[in-house]
Amino acid sequence: MKNYFSIQDIDSLDHWVDEAIKIKKAPLSDKVLGVNKTIGLLFFNPSLRTRLSTQKAALNLGMNVIVMNFTKEGWSLEYEDGTVMDQGNSEHVKEAAQVVSQYCDVIAIRAFAKLENKDEDYSEKVLKGFIKYATIPVVNMESATGHPLQALADAITITEYKKKDKPKVVLSWAPHPKALPQAVANSFVEMMQQMDAHFVITHPVGFELASQITKQVPIDYNQESAFKDADFIYVKNWSSYTDYGKVLSADDSWKITEDKMKLTNQAKFMHCLPVRRNVVVDDVVLDGQNSIIVEQANNRTYAAQLVLKKILKNEK
Ligand code: CP
Repeated sequence: MKNYFSIQDIDSLDHWVDEAIKIKKAPLSDKVLGVNKTIGLLFFNPSLRTRLSTQKAALNLGMNVIVMNFTKEGWSLEYEDGTVMDQGNSEHVKEAAQVVSQYCDVIAIRAFAKLENKDEDYSEKVLKGFIKYATIPVVNMESATGHPLQALADAITITEYKKKDKPKVVLSWAPHPKALPQAVANSFVEMMQQMDAHFVITHPVGFELASQITKQVPIDYNQESAFKDADFIYVKNWSSYTDYGKVLSADDSWKITEDKMKLTNQAKFMHCLPVRRNVVVDDVVLDGQNSIIVEQANNRTYAAQLVLKKILKNEK
């Protein structure tokens, strides 16, 4: 595998999930695969899980790891071709990507949506700029429109916890004071279309995700009816796609409560984290016995390790 840019790079989800679960049981079994190889982790935005789990995954494979907080420590990058660079940007992605390719064997990049310009965000100029000019594989650690490492960890987690072949999985929007990207929700939606699940999205009117991503997935604008009989409740806030980047509502009535969870089939509660307690979801749900948020975060390591292993072995 050359790049892991989106979940479309997964050729067989069932095989990938099985292999990730095997890696989880014996995480050091490929300890020599990455010896004398270096991964560069470039962060344009903050992270806890992605940074540490990807680093841990690389170390499990014997790789060396270089981490750079690009926004604070790197030159401001230009992405357009032919620009007269007499404004703020000091370096073109053309040189940056080629130079990093000399120092590393794999690059992993986190670059969120700026939520100012839909076309610019959905063009994925940062990740695609690096992919265009890098001469080594590029891994998406959350880009403007997707978080495929998170979605792979989510698929592993649902597979581990499901009690029936085709569970009901509900993606629910929940309130948040800040405008957040659609990346996590987008990749989760794409992942659930690949999994054998009865999948429903619920959100207030105005928070429809991009139709090219949701396709035929049913949307229920009534959160309580969507929760009925659910086996998994996956919660995430996102800002509006149609009224791009806007927080159209912070409606507290969409917060996840114990009473709403009682409508489900004792559903497991999932969230990619970080989560704002008692804004997005009540403490009692997060701390309850059906919350699997920490186990979900643990699977980030094995998702990343599987992707890096496939890249190092150059296999699909
Ligand atoms: N879920 C996730 O990507 O967490 P971080 O932002 O902390 O990396």
